[in-house]
Amino acid sequence: MYTPTPEDRFTFGLWTVGWQARDQFGDASRAPLDPVESVHRLAELGAYGVTFHDDDLLAVEPDRAKAIENFKKALADTGMKVPMATTNLFTHPIFKDGGFTSNDREVRRYALRKVIRNIDLAAELGAKTYVCWGGREGAESEAAKDVRVALDRYKEGFDLLCQYVIDKGYDIRFAVEPKPNEPRGDILLPTIGHALAFINSLEHPEMVGLNPETGHEQMAGMNFVHGIAQALWHGKLFHIDLNGQHGPRFDQDLIFGHGDVKNAFFLVDLLENGGYDGPRHFDYKPLRTEDKEDVWESAAANMRTYLIFKEKSKAYRADPEVQAALEASRYNELAQPTLAAGETYEDVLAESIDVDAAAERGFHFTRLNQLAIEHLLGVR
Ligand code: GCO
Ligand code: MN
Ligand code: MN
Ligand code: MN
Repeated sequence: MYTPTPEDRFTFGLWTVGWQARDQFGDASRAPLDPVESVHRLAELGAYGVTFHDDDLLAVEPDRAKAIENFKKALADTGMKVPMATTNLFTHPIFKDGGFTSNDREVRRYALRKVIRNIDLAAELGAKTYVCWGGREGAESEAAKDVRVALDRYKEGFDLLCQYVIDKGYDIRFAVEPKPNEPRGDILLPTIGHALAFINSLEHPEMVGLNPETGHEQMAGMNFVHGIAQALWHGKLFHIDLNGQHGPRFDQDLIFGHGDVKNAFFLVDLLENGGYDGPRHFDYKPLRTEDKEDVWESAAANMRTYLIFKEKSKAYRADPEVQAALEASRYNELAQPTLAAGETYEDVLAESIDVDAAAERGFHFTRLNQLAIEHLLGVR
């Protein structure tokens, strides 16, 4: 019942299972993982596909052409897809002040070349989404960067990349991944809202959407479900990075559902019923404490947890007590337009309300919330 199949469209970044668990304070606790092995192991677990940064392909084979050849063979042998690709513009120290927005103009031009080279490969592999996570685009001090000018350069970068994709005739759209901080003290486009506003200022806003990550919004104290709902409302949820996080602290990249459980439940409920048809992509990190077999246990846990939430969401919606509670809470009344067809503000102005009586009416949200918790805790 909770066994994933490719129809579930679960995907994983090669950098997730392949993370060697090198952190700020400690060396790697696991050996490098061959992308070929990752593709095979994830396929066996029931995943639909994998995603990658240009540099991820070089984990064990430094020769790019050979690495790509090996990767393609693994994809062909397993039937795994590559719906998304992205660029590493953060590991090499050349990017210490960013890629598209580095104060160093030569670095900005190199960053664009690095992205374009991998877009060609992404197109060849059939990827439809190209993610841009600007982890190094930012600053530690307000003295270091004129943010308005940095945004000019950020826009210049996206405009150039969109033009490239148009000229090449690729069927690719870009997805900006917001994050408030880490590795930079403050990162540009820190939340879903900042990124949505930025996209509207681009030459081709229709080609650029979002790749929001659970933990990143939660690091900023935001409600991820609300953020995703708004991204959907704008038609901008091009892709999603699912993982877990415990509130505002360092980026934990926990297994999906291993952070804020209730928010994860309502997220799955929203994704399954809210019109999102893209891959369910996991961007998590197997804990540093885990060995090389635990890695696959953790990959499987992401998918299994998602499927459990999916079942719980169905049961929650089908429960007559939940339906009655939704009715009592006037949940569905919100779908009714505030003005009826043909009405104008004149009709609203002509009306009166018994303010005290309306203020006394309760919304009974406690009952609804408790029903959700009971479904989640498995007592219903
Ligand atoms: C993070 C980010 C990254 C990006 C990835 C794609 O955890 O800070 O999620 O993992 O998603 O690099 O560019
Ligand atoms: Mn991510
Ligand atoms: Mn993260
Ligand atoms: Mn990540």
